[in-house]
Amino acid sequence: MAVAPAVTARACANIALVKYWGKRDAALNLPAAGSLSLALGALVTETTVAFDPELANDVIDLDGQPARADAAMRVSAFLDLVRAQTGVQIRARVTSKNEFPTASGLASSASGFAALALAATKAGGLDLPPRELSILARRGSGSAARSVFGGFARMHAGHADSGEDAFAEPIGSVLTDRVRLVIAVVGGGVAKAHGSRSAMDHTALTSPLYRAWLELVPRDLAAAEAALAAGDLEALGAIAEGNALAMHASAIAARPAVIYWQPATLAALAEVRALRAAGRAAWATMDAGPHVKVLTSAADAGAVAAALRGVAGVTDVSIAAAGPAAQILDREGSHRAS
Ligand code: PMV
Repeated sequence: MAVAPAVTARACANIALVKYWGKRDAALNLPAAGSLSLALGALVTETTVAFDPELANDVIDLDGQPARADAAMRVSAFLDLVRAQTGVQIRARVTSKNEFPTASGLASSASGFAALALAATKAGGLDLPPRELSILARRGSGSAARSVFGGFARMHAGHADSGEDAFAEPIGSVLTDRVRLVIAVVGGGVAKAHGSRSAMDHTALTSPLYRAWLELVPRDLAAAEAALAAGDLEALGAIAEGNALAMHASAIAARPAVIYWQPATLAALAEVRALRAAGRAAWATMDAGPHVKVLTSAADAGAVAAALRGVAGVTDVSIAAAGPAAQILDREGSHRAS
């Protein structure tokens, strides 16, 4: 049997403005509530998949090195889902690299599993529509369901036990081209962060604030969608900052506590408030780590980045604009939308 042709796909990372934090089903990775995100063009994962009958096991290279055992197992388990869906029973060679700003400190599971879902299904001869691709990517990582799409995306929690209604969809907005995300990396001897998977489960199980968090999310989603429809960056920013703080509050109240913040995280948050007081568009969001990402406008991005570079403990600052949907890379190197 001949080796099936290799397929290469690219997908952008995304940052949630209304966070996903908690599952309704762990096995199928079903979120307990919806979420809303922005894809980032500066943070891309490129992944090549080739099914090869000569291989006894999946061979997985991440950023030029054989993947560590835990990452390799996660990718292989995901490829098993693709094998079940495509009927291709042979093992695959997967090569994946992240084109992220130097030391961005950002997780690549969203872009990684979106690119893998697209490349692996195409390599297995399956042309999935974006919604099906989003459902599949979700099995790798909840946030990956959103990285199938460009710009703003809304993830639906769904109700079905099967997960067939838990997918993301793109949301068009005049803000897509107007917004920027300034990424301030908080570095310096940071202990390994508590992974989002186990931290959200731990929050759901032990935090007295988790119920309040789940009640808040639908309200924030509705308000964020209204802000996108109205092109109201100030309203969107206020929701994003409040939502991120509420997510962290629920994690901080877990027992034992999950605290991602470093002193420089708080200093960066204070700088964001000072920028706002000085009339700049600037609203902060934070994920399962100490870094601060600031939603701003194209006009204010430079000033926001300069101010954050001046915060002690911030080691790297970059600016990202909205990114495109996951896409297949042709042999010639040109991009095609999924
Ligand atoms: O999809 P995961 O398991 O990487 O979880 C993402 C969790 C957050 O980044 C904190 C929030 C989000 O919605 O992306």
